[in-house]
Amino acid sequence: MRTVLVTGANGLIGREFTRQYAADGWRVFATGIGMDSLAGLCAEYPAIAALEMDVTDFARVEEVAAQIDEPLDLVISNAGYYVDLLKRFGGTDYDAFRRMVEINTVGPLHLAETFAPLVERSLWKKMVFISARQGSISLNVTGGAYGYRASKAALNACIKSMSIDLLHRGIAVLALHPGYVSDTDELAPLTGAESVRHMRSVIRRYNLHETGSFLMFNDNPLPW
Ligand SMILES: NC(=O)c1ccc[n+]([C@@H]2O[C@H](COP(=O)([O-])OP(=O)(O)OC[C@H]3O[C@@H](n4cnc5c(N)ncnc54)[C@H](OP(=O)(O)O)[C@@H]3O)[C@@H](O)[C@H]2O)c1
Repeated sequence: MRTVLVTGANGLIGREFTRQYAADGWRVFATGIGMDSLAGLCAEYPAIAALEMDVTDFARVEEVAAQIDEPLDLVISNAGYYVDLLKRFGGTDYDAFRRMVEINTVGPLHLAETFAPLVERSLWKKMVFISARQGSISLNVTGGAYGYRASKAALNACIKSMSIDLLHRGIAVLALHPGYVSDTDELAPLTGAESVRHMRSVIRRYNLHETGSFLMFNDNPLPW
């Protein structure tokens, strides 16, 4: 049985990763804040283990890793925080900026450092980070969103370094943009289920020779 750990598993995209991998027969360690909201899904799929885990709480992340102590084929760092996306220069909310860096950059790096030994023991050996196109410096033509863009660009920098540092341990690292995803906004091109279906096929396909790539949900490469 393949195993996956997902962060932010009770959000739109995290819940879909959890549901689709469980439906495919995987053992899913679904982590997040307020995991009671996943009770229905856990009842439907007994292979889901729901665990409280705030990615900024280092002690708790390490405790969860010690509890699991089994090979993890895949870790999906999905938890994310975004506010103030429309704020322009002069209107930056610095508390929100710091929080985005904590959750979108520092948390994922610490998660990777904590779980790499469990991933290394598995067959797949993959770590995927849900980044964002807004973290691409080259594609920024509209400005604004300082905190979100900076936190995801910094995440991308960490992913690139990890791909180099983890190569000799056989761990393949990937930055993935899920697309613009919503189950409520009719203008969004993708629902959570559609985006995750696409991303799962990219995750299945990509391997060590492409470690450190930044890809869209549909497998198209993105510039840093
Ligand atoms: N949706 C899009 O169009 C889009 C586009 C580009 C990138 N992304 C990225 O995709 C990922 C998932 O986004 P989403 O659209 O599914 O958003 P979402 O529905 O808001 O889900 C984000 C999840 O992360 C959780 N989270 C926040 N802070 C956390 C922390 N400190 N520890 C653990 N979990 C935490 C949230 O929990 P709470 O609800 O309790 O805060 C929520 O469950 C994010 O990394 C986001 O940046 C999304």
